[in-house]
Amino acid sequence: MHRRQKEMAPWAPALLLCVMVPCVCATKICAFNMQHFGEKKVAKEHILNLIVKIIQRCEISVLQEVQDPKGLALSRLLQSLNKAHKKDTFMAVTSPPLGRKSYTEQYVFIYRSDKVQATQQYKYADDDSDAPDVFAREPYIVRFSVFGKGLRDLVLVPMHTVPENASREIDALYDVFLDIMVRWDAKNILFLGDFNAACSYLSRKKKRTLRLYKDERFHWLIDDSADTTVRGSTNCAYDRIVAYGEQLMTNVQTAGVYNFTKELGLSEIQALEISDHYPVELDLNGQNPLLPSCTLLALSFLVSFISQTWEKTPIY
Ligand SMILES: *[C@@H]1O[C@H](CO)[C@@H](O)[C@H](O)[C@H]1NC(C)=O
Ligand SMILES: *[C@@H]1O[C@H](CO)[C@@H](O)[C@H](O)[C@H]1NC(C)=O
Repeated sequence: MHRRQKEMAPWAPALLLCVMVPCVCATKICAFNMQHFGEKKVAKEHILNLIVKIIQRCEISVLQEVQDPKGLALSRLLQSLNKAHKKDTFMAVTSPPLGRKSYTEQYVFIYRSDKVQATQQYKYADDDSDAPDVFAREPYIVRFSVFGKGLRDLVLVPMHTVPENASREIDALYDVFLDIMVRWDAKNILFLGDFNAACSYLSRKKKRTLRLYKDERFHWLIDDSADTTVRGSTNCAYDRIVAYGEQLMTNVQTAGVYNFTKELGLSEIQALEISDHYPVELDLNGQNPLLPSCTLLALSFLVSFISQTWEKTPIY
Protein backbone atom coordinates (compact mmCIF):
# COMPACT_ATOMS: atom_id res chain seq x y z
CA MET A 1 0.00 0.00 0.00
CA HIS A 2 2.69 2.40 1.06
CA ARG A 3 4.78 1.62 -2.04
CA ARG A 4 1.89 2.24 -4.40
CA GLN A 5 1.17 5.66 -2.97
CA LYS A 6 4.76 6.70 -3.46
CA GLU A 7 4.78 5.66 -7.10
CA MET A 8 1.51 7.38 -7.88
CA ALA A 9 2.49 10.68 -6.33
CA PRO A 10 4.18 12.24 -9.42
CA TRP A 11 1.05 11.73 -11.46
CA ALA A 12 -1.14 13.64 -9.10
CA PRO A 13 -0.09 17.25 -9.89
CA ALA A 14 -0.19 16.62 -13.64
CA LEU A 15 -3.68 15.16 -13.44
CA LEU A 16 -4.78 17.98 -11.20
CA LEU A 17 -3.56 20.46 -13.83
CA CYS A 18 -5.64 18.67 -16.45
CA VAL A 19 -8.73 19.03 -14.34
CA MET A 20 -8.06 22.61 -13.36
CA VAL A 21 -7.12 24.19 -16.69
CA PRO A 22 -10.39 25.59 -17.94
CA CYS A 23 -11.45 23.98 -21.19
CA VAL A 24 -11.66 26.26 -24.14
CA CYS A 25 -15.28 25.30 -24.44
CA ALA A 26 -17.90 25.87 -27.06
CA THR A 27 -17.88 29.02 -29.14
CA LYS A 28 -21.35 30.48 -28.88
CA ILE A 29 -22.56 32.62 -31.78
CA CYS A 30 -25.77 34.56 -31.32
CA ALA A 31 -28.02 36.70 -33.50
CA PHE A 32 -30.36 39.11 -31.80
CA ASN A 33 -32.89 41.58 -33.19
CA MET A 34 -32.81 44.15 -30.39
CA GLN A 35 -35.86 46.14 -31.52
CA HIS A 36 -34.89 49.81 -31.72
CA PHE A 37 -31.74 49.46 -29.68
CA GLY A 38 -30.48 52.93 -28.88
CA GLU A 39 -29.83 55.47 -26.17
CA LYS A 40 -33.35 55.26 -24.76
CA LYS A 41 -33.03 51.56 -24.03
CA VAL A 42 -29.63 51.67 -22.34
CA ALA A 43 -30.71 54.66 -20.25
CA LYS A 44 -32.85 52.24 -18.25
CA GLU A 45 -30.36 50.57 -15.95
CA HIS A 46 -32.38 47.41 -15.35
CA ILE A 47 -32.79 46.80 -19.09
CA LEU A 48 -29.12 47.43 -19.72
CA ASN A 49 -28.25 44.87 -17.04
CA LEU A 50 -30.50 42.25 -18.62
CA ILE A 51 -29.02 42.92 -22.07
CA VAL A 52 -25.54 42.45 -20.58
CA LYS A 53 -26.61 39.07 -19.18
CA ILE A 54 -27.84 37.98 -22.60
CA ILE A 55 -24.85 39.18 -24.61
CA GLN A 56 -22.05 38.10 -22.30
CA ARG A 57 -22.99 34.46 -22.90
CA CYS A 58 -21.90 34.73 -26.53
CA GLU A 59 -18.42 34.82 -28.04
CA ILE A 60 -19.98 36.71 -30.98
CA SER A 61 -23.34 38.52 -30.97
CA VAL A 62 -24.73 39.75 -34.26
CA LEU A 63 -27.10 42.56 -33.30
CA GLN A 64 -29.77 43.92 -35.60
CA GLU A 65 -32.12 46.88 -35.49
CA VAL A 66 -29.52 49.01 -33.78
CA GLN A 67 -30.35 52.71 -34.06
CA ASP A 68 -27.32 54.34 -32.61
CA PRO A 69 -25.57 56.46 -35.27
CA LYS A 70 -23.50 58.30 -32.65
CA GLY A 71 -22.45 55.04 -31.01
CA LEU A 72 -23.39 56.25 -27.53
CA ALA A 73 -25.66 53.32 -26.67
CA LEU A 74 -23.08 50.85 -27.88
CA SER A 75 -20.26 52.40 -25.87
CA ARG A 76 -22.47 52.29 -22.76
CA LEU A 77 -23.22 48.62 -23.43
CA LEU A 78 -19.54 47.76 -23.98
CA GLN A 79 -18.63 49.57 -20.77
CA SER A 80 -21.14 47.48 -18.81
CA LEU A 81 -20.02 44.26 -20.49
CA ASN A 82 -16.39 44.97 -19.69
CA LYS A 83 -16.99 45.98 -16.08
CA ALA A 84 -17.23 42.34 -15.11
CA HIS A 85 -14.36 41.27 -17.35
CA LYS A 86 -10.81 42.29 -18.09
CA LYS A 87 -10.54 45.68 -19.73
CA ASP A 88 -11.75 45.66 -23.33
CA THR A 89 -12.51 41.96 -23.49
CA PHE A 90 -15.66 42.77 -25.43
CA MET A 91 -15.15 44.76 -28.61
CA ALA A 92 -17.41 45.72 -31.48
CA VAL A 93 -17.56 46.19 -35.22
CA THR A 94 -20.37 48.46 -36.42
CA SER A 95 -21.86 48.95 -39.86
CA PRO A 96 -22.78 52.40 -41.12
CA PRO A 97 -26.49 53.28 -40.84
CA LEU A 98 -28.23 51.28 -43.58
CA GLY A 99 -31.56 52.04 -45.21
CA ARG A 100 -33.22 53.40 -48.32
CA LYS A 101 -34.69 56.54 -46.83
CA SER A 102 -34.39 58.38 -43.56
CA TYR A 103 -35.13 55.23 -41.55
CA THR A 104 -31.88 53.39 -40.95
CA GLU A 105 -30.54 50.54 -38.87
CA GLN A 106 -27.06 49.28 -38.11
CA TYR A 107 -25.63 45.82 -37.75
CA VAL A 108 -23.32 45.50 -34.76
CA PHE A 109 -20.98 42.61 -33.99
CA ILE A 110 -19.98 42.38 -30.34
CA TYR A 111 -17.24 39.83 -29.75
CA ARG A 112 -14.91 38.53 -27.06
CA SER A 113 -11.47 39.62 -28.21
CA ASP A 114 -9.77 36.91 -26.11
CA LYS A 115 -11.61 34.22 -28.08
CA VAL A 116 -12.07 35.61 -31.58
CA GLN A 117 -10.71 38.44 -33.70
CA ALA A 118 -12.42 40.38 -36.48
CA THR A 119 -10.05 40.36 -39.43
CA GLN A 120 -11.89 41.69 -42.50
CA GLN A 121 -15.16 43.39 -43.30
CA TYR A 122 -17.13 44.91 -46.16
CA LYS A 123 -20.59 46.11 -47.06
CA TYR A 124 -22.25 44.11 -49.81
CA ALA A 125 -22.96 46.56 -52.62
CA ASP A 126 -26.32 46.04 -54.29
CA ASP A 127 -26.89 49.71 -54.98
CA ASP A 128 -23.84 50.79 -56.94
CA SER A 129 -23.96 48.15 -59.66
CA ASP A 130 -26.28 47.19 -62.52
CA ALA A 131 -28.03 44.73 -60.22
CA PRO A 132 -31.33 45.91 -58.72
CA ASP A 133 -31.34 47.30 -55.21
CA VAL A 134 -32.65 44.26 -53.36
CA PHE A 135 -31.72 44.85 -49.75
CA ALA A 136 -33.08 47.62 -47.59
CA ARG A 137 -30.20 46.88 -45.20
CA GLU A 138 -27.34 45.34 -47.14
CA PRO A 139 -25.34 42.71 -45.29
CA TYR A 140 -22.27 44.10 -43.56
CA ILE A 141 -20.02 41.09 -43.74
CA VAL A 142 -17.37 40.40 -41.10
CA ARG A 143 -14.72 37.71 -41.14
CA PHE A 144 -13.45 36.31 -37.85
CA SER A 145 -10.53 34.20 -36.86
CA VAL A 146 -11.30 31.88 -33.97
CA PHE A 147 -8.51 31.14 -31.49
CA GLY A 148 -7.44 27.64 -30.47
CA LYS A 149 -10.19 25.67 -32.14
CA GLY A 150 -10.69 23.24 -34.95
CA LEU A 151 -12.53 25.97 -36.81
CA ARG A 152 -10.17 28.89 -37.47
CA ASP A 153 -11.96 31.03 -40.01
CA LEU A 154 -15.59 32.06 -40.05
CA VAL A 155 -17.50 34.59 -42.13
CA LEU A 156 -20.70 36.08 -40.68
CA VAL A 157 -23.43 37.59 -42.84
CA PRO A 158 -26.04 39.53 -40.83
CA MET A 159 -29.51 40.03 -42.24
CA HIS A 160 -32.60 41.88 -41.13
CA THR A 161 -35.07 41.72 -44.01
CA VAL A 162 -37.95 44.06 -44.67
CA PRO A 163 -40.97 41.85 -43.87
CA GLU A 164 -42.83 42.50 -47.15
CA ASN A 165 -39.72 41.64 -49.16
CA ALA A 166 -38.48 38.76 -47.01
CA SER A 167 -38.45 36.06 -49.70
CA ARG A 168 -36.61 38.21 -52.26
CA GLU A 169 -34.04 39.36 -49.77
CA ILE A 170 -33.39 35.86 -48.41
CA ASP A 171 -33.08 34.54 -51.94
CA ALA A 172 -30.58 37.31 -52.73
CA LEU A 173 -28.35 36.10 -49.90
CA TYR A 174 -27.30 33.50 -52.45
CA ASP A 175 -25.76 36.31 -54.54
CA VAL A 176 -24.03 37.55 -51.40
CA PHE A 177 -22.65 34.04 -50.97
CA LEU A 178 -21.23 34.06 -54.52
CA ASP A 179 -19.68 37.46 -53.90
CA ILE A 180 -17.99 36.26 -50.68
CA MET A 181 -16.60 33.21 -52.49
CA VAL A 182 -15.07 35.40 -55.21
CA ARG A 183 -13.53 37.76 -52.68
CA TRP A 184 -12.33 35.42 -49.99
CA ASP A 185 -12.89 31.83 -51.11
CA ALA A 186 -14.36 31.31 -47.62
CA LYS A 187 -14.85 27.78 -46.33
CA ASN A 188 -17.23 28.53 -43.47
CA ILE A 189 -20.09 31.01 -43.68
CA LEU A 190 -23.03 31.75 -41.39
CA PHE A 191 -26.04 33.79 -42.51
CA LEU A 192 -27.94 34.92 -39.47
CA GLY A 193 -30.53 37.30 -38.18
CA ASP A 194 -34.16 38.26 -38.39
CA PHE A 195 -35.02 36.96 -41.86
CA ASN A 196 -38.78 37.35 -41.18
CA ALA A 197 -38.73 33.79 -42.50
CA ALA A 198 -42.08 32.56 -41.20
CA CYS A 199 -45.78 33.13 -40.72
CA SER A 200 -47.35 35.60 -43.16
CA TYR A 201 -43.99 36.86 -44.50
CA LEU A 202 -42.69 33.53 -45.80
CA SER A 203 -44.82 30.45 -46.42
CA ARG A 204 -43.18 27.01 -46.29
CA LYS A 205 -44.02 26.60 -49.96
CA LYS A 206 -42.28 29.85 -50.90
CA LYS A 207 -39.32 28.94 -48.72
CA ARG A 208 -38.71 25.81 -50.82
CA THR A 209 -38.18 27.99 -53.91
CA LEU A 210 -35.35 30.04 -52.39
CA ARG A 211 -31.84 29.39 -53.68
CA LEU A 212 -30.49 29.66 -50.14
CA TYR A 213 -32.79 26.77 -49.20
CA LYS A 214 -32.84 24.63 -52.35
CA ASP A 215 -29.06 24.31 -52.59
CA GLU A 216 -28.15 21.46 -50.25
CA ARG A 217 -24.88 23.05 -49.23
CA PHE A 218 -26.90 25.38 -47.00
CA HIS A 219 -28.12 24.06 -43.67
CA TRP A 220 -31.02 25.81 -41.96
CA LEU A 221 -30.23 25.25 -38.29
CA ILE A 222 -33.36 26.83 -36.78
CA ASP A 223 -36.47 24.80 -37.60
CA ASP A 224 -39.77 26.14 -38.93
CA SER A 225 -41.30 24.91 -35.66
CA ALA A 226 -39.14 27.26 -33.56
CA ASP A 227 -40.69 30.34 -31.98
CA THR A 228 -38.34 33.33 -31.89
CA THR A 229 -40.97 35.81 -30.76
CA VAL A 230 -41.35 36.97 -27.17
CA ARG A 231 -45.10 37.52 -27.29
CA GLY A 232 -47.12 34.53 -26.17
CA SER A 233 -49.71 35.37 -28.81
CA THR A 234 -47.29 34.85 -31.73
CA ASN A 235 -45.48 31.72 -32.80
CA CYS A 236 -43.10 32.37 -35.71
CA ALA A 237 -39.56 31.29 -36.64
CA TYR A 238 -38.57 34.73 -37.93
CA ASP A 239 -34.95 34.54 -36.82
CA ARG A 240 -32.67 32.01 -38.46
CA ILE A 241 -29.15 30.71 -38.75
CA VAL A 242 -28.04 29.18 -42.05
CA ALA A 243 -24.67 27.45 -42.26
CA TYR A 244 -22.44 26.78 -45.24
CA GLY A 245 -19.30 24.63 -45.09
CA GLU A 246 -18.46 21.03 -44.22
CA GLN A 247 -15.88 21.95 -41.62
CA LEU A 248 -18.37 24.28 -39.97
CA MET A 249 -21.10 21.62 -39.97
CA THR A 250 -18.86 19.03 -38.30
CA ASN A 251 -18.26 21.57 -35.52
CA VAL A 252 -21.92 22.37 -34.85
CA GLN A 253 -22.97 21.13 -31.40
CA THR A 254 -26.40 22.66 -30.98
CA ALA A 255 -28.53 25.48 -32.31
CA GLY A 256 -31.66 26.97 -30.83
CA VAL A 257 -33.58 29.86 -29.38
CA TYR A 258 -32.56 31.58 -26.13
CA ASN A 259 -35.76 32.18 -24.19
CA PHE A 260 -34.71 35.01 -21.87
CA THR A 261 -38.18 35.27 -20.39
CA LYS A 262 -37.66 31.83 -18.90
CA GLU A 263 -33.88 31.89 -18.35
CA LEU A 264 -33.86 35.25 -16.58
CA GLY A 265 -37.17 34.67 -14.78
CA LEU A 266 -39.05 37.60 -16.33
CA SER A 267 -42.69 38.32 -17.00
CA GLU A 268 -43.72 38.83 -20.61
CA ILE A 269 -44.02 42.57 -20.00
CA GLN A 270 -40.51 42.75 -18.55
CA ALA A 271 -39.14 40.65 -21.41
CA LEU A 272 -40.75 42.92 -24.01
CA GLU A 273 -38.82 45.87 -22.59
CA ILE A 274 -35.69 44.16 -23.92
CA SER A 275 -37.02 43.14 -27.35
CA ASP A 276 -39.89 41.40 -29.07
CA HIS A 277 -37.43 38.83 -30.48
CA TYR A 278 -35.42 36.10 -28.76
CA PRO A 279 -31.82 35.57 -29.85
CA VAL A 280 -31.06 32.51 -31.94
CA GLU A 281 -27.74 30.87 -31.22
CA LEU A 282 -25.28 28.23 -32.24
CA ASP A 283 -22.66 26.35 -30.22
CA LEU A 284 -19.51 25.31 -32.05
CA ASN A 285 -17.19 22.65 -30.64
CA GLY A 286 -14.42 23.86 -28.47
CA GLN A 287 -11.39 21.82 -27.57
CA ASN A 288 -9.26 21.78 -24.47
CA PRO A 289 -5.75 22.42 -25.81
CA LEU A 290 -4.40 20.00 -23.16
CA LEU A 291 -6.87 17.27 -24.13
CA PRO A 292 -4.43 15.03 -26.06
CA SER A 293 -1.75 15.09 -23.36
CA CYS A 294 -4.34 14.68 -20.61
CA THR A 295 -5.84 11.66 -22.31
CA LEU A 296 -2.35 10.11 -22.58
CA LEU A 297 -1.67 10.90 -18.95
CA ALA A 298 -4.96 9.39 -17.81
CA LEU A 299 -4.23 6.24 -19.85
CA SER A 300 -0.75 5.82 -18.37
CA PHE A 301 -2.22 6.34 -14.94
CA LEU A 302 -4.77 3.63 -15.58
CA VAL A 303 -2.16 1.21 -16.93
CA SER A 304 0.13 1.72 -13.94
CA PHE A 305 -2.80 1.34 -11.57
CA ILE A 306 -3.93 -1.90 -13.20
CA SER A 307 -0.43 -3.35 -13.32
CA GLN A 308 0.08 -2.58 -9.62
CA THR A 309 -3.24 -4.16 -8.73
CA TRP A 310 -2.25 -7.10 -10.86
CA GLU A 311 1.04 -7.49 -8.93
CA LYS A 312 -0.87 -7.68 -5.68
CA THR A 313 -3.40 -10.19 -6.92
CA PRO A 314 -2.30 -13.62 -5.78
CA ILE A 315 -1.85 -15.95 -8.72
CA TYR A 316 -3.19 -19.42 -8.27
C1 LIG B 1 -39.37 46.06 -51.47
O1 LIG B 1 -38.52 45.92 -52.60
C2 LIG B 1 -38.75 46.85 -53.65
C3 LIG B 1 -37.84 46.49 -54.79
O2 LIG B 1 -36.50 46.48 -54.42
C4 LIG B 1 -38.52 48.26 -53.14
O3 LIG B 1 -38.78 49.20 -54.15
C5 LIG B 1 -39.42 48.51 -51.93
O4 LIG B 1 -39.14 49.79 -51.41
C6 LIG B 1 -39.19 47.44 -50.90
N1 LIG B 1 -40.10 47.63 -49.78
C7 LIG B 1 -39.70 48.18 -48.64
C8 LIG B 1 -40.76 48.34 -47.61
O5 LIG B 1 -38.54 48.48 -48.43
C1 LIG C 1 -40.47 31.28 -23.08
O1 LIG C 1 -40.60 31.07 -21.71
C2 LIG C 1 -41.82 31.52 -21.17
C3 LIG C 1 -41.73 31.41 -19.65
O2 LIG C 1 -41.37 30.10 -19.26
C4 LIG C 1 -42.94 30.70 -21.78
O3 LIG C 1 -44.18 31.13 -21.24
C5 LIG C 1 -42.91 30.87 -23.29
O4 LIG C 1 -43.88 30.08 -23.90
C6 LIG C 1 -41.56 30.55 -23.84
N1 LIG C 1 -41.51 30.92 -25.23
C7 LIG C 1 -40.96 30.17 -26.15
C8 LIG C 1 -40.98 30.71 -27.52
O5 LIG C 1 -40.45 29.08 -25.91
